[in-house]
Amino acid sequence: MINTFLFPSDYFNKNKVDSSLYAEYITCKEINDTHIILFSYRKWFEDKIIELTSIPTKNTVVIYRGWMMIPEVYEKFYAALKAYNITLINNPNAYKLMHIFPNVYKSIQEDTAKILTFSLHQPIDLNIIKNNGINKFLVKDYVKSVKGSNFPSSFRVDMSQEEFDGWMKVFYQYRGNLLTGGICIKEFLNLKHYDDNTNEYRVYYANNKICSISKNSGQGYLTPLPPEELIQKYANLQSNYYTIDYAQLEDNSWIIIECGDGQVSGLSDSQDYVDYYKNLILCFE
Ligand SMILES: Nc1ncnc2c1ncn2[C@@H]1O[C@H](COP(=O)(O)OP(=O)(O)O)[C@@H](O)[C@H]1O
Ligand SMILES: [Mg+2]
Repeated sequence: MINTFLFPSDYFNKNKVDSSLYAEYITCKEINDTHIILFSYRKWFEDKIIELTSIPTKNTVVIYRGWMMIPEVYEKFYAALKAYNITLINNPNAYKLMHIFPNVYKSIQEDTAKILTFSLHQPIDLNIIKNNGINKFLVKDYVKSVKGSNFPSSFRVDMSQEEFDGWMKVFYQYRGNLLTGGICIKEFLNLKHYDDNTNEYRVYYANNKICSISKNSGQGYLTPLPPEELIQKYANLQSNYYTIDYAQLEDNSWIIIECGDGQVSGLSDSQDYVDYYKNLILCFE
C-alpha cells in the first residue's frame, strides 16, 4: 500500500505547504491513513539540500506531488531522498521516459503528431520542416511549450526564415531556466472545437492502471471521451505513475498531445480531488 505523499513547502516556511498546492494537500491530508511529508522548497531548489518535516522509520515508497525538475535534478532528488528512507514512486529512468517527450515518442508514435527534434540553439531551417511533410507546426522544448504569452501557438513553413528565427529567440527567453533537452517541432493537427474549446482529457495512470480521466480544456459536459481502447493501449508504459493527454481531432479520431511524469503533472481544473486521491491509493493496493 502506498499512502505517503511528499509536497514542497512554502518558500519562506518549511512547515507550511506551497500555497499553489494547498487544495491538493488538504484533500490528501483529510483522506484516512495518509501521511504527508514536506520538504523545504528553498533548501532543495536553491541549495540542493533535503530538509523534511518528518523522516520515515523504515524504507517507504512515496509519491511526490509538486514542481517539475529537469531529469538531472530529479535524479539527485531521488538519490538524496533515499538517504532518508524515501523511495520515490518513479526511479530516474521512469521519470526521464515520461517527462522528455522524444523518449516516450517511440512508444506512442502511431497515435501522436509527427515531431522533429533539434539541439538547443541549433538553427532550425524551415525547409527541413517542409521537406519532412510538415506545413504547420508548434514549437516546444522536450517538455513544454510557452503558453499565455504573445508567442504564436502555431507557425507555417512558408513564413520568412528571419521571422521564425526571431520567434525562436523569444521562445528561449520565455523558457528561461526551465528550458529542457532540445527543441521539438510538432506537426499541427486540426483539433475539434466545441464552441471555443478543444476536447482534451488528461489520463493519470498509476501502477499501470487507469486512475482518472478528466476534462482538460474547459469543454462542457457533453463532449465525447477518448475511446476506451486507446486509453487502455497505453496503460503499460514503463513508469509507475504518469499522465497522457488526449485530444479529439476534427475528423473525430483521437491523438496523444503530451505525456508527463504523474508526480509533476497538475490536476486538471475539472478534477474531483477527493476521487483522485482515493483512486490513486486504490491503484497501488
Ligand atoms: N499537434 C497539435 N496540433 C494542434 N494543436 C495542438 C497539438 N498539440 C497540442 N496542441 C494544442 O496546444 C496546446 C499546448 O500543447 P501541449 O503539447 O499540451 O503543450 P504544453 O502543455 O506544454 O503547453 C494543447 O493543449 C492543445 O490544445
Ligand atoms: Mg499541455
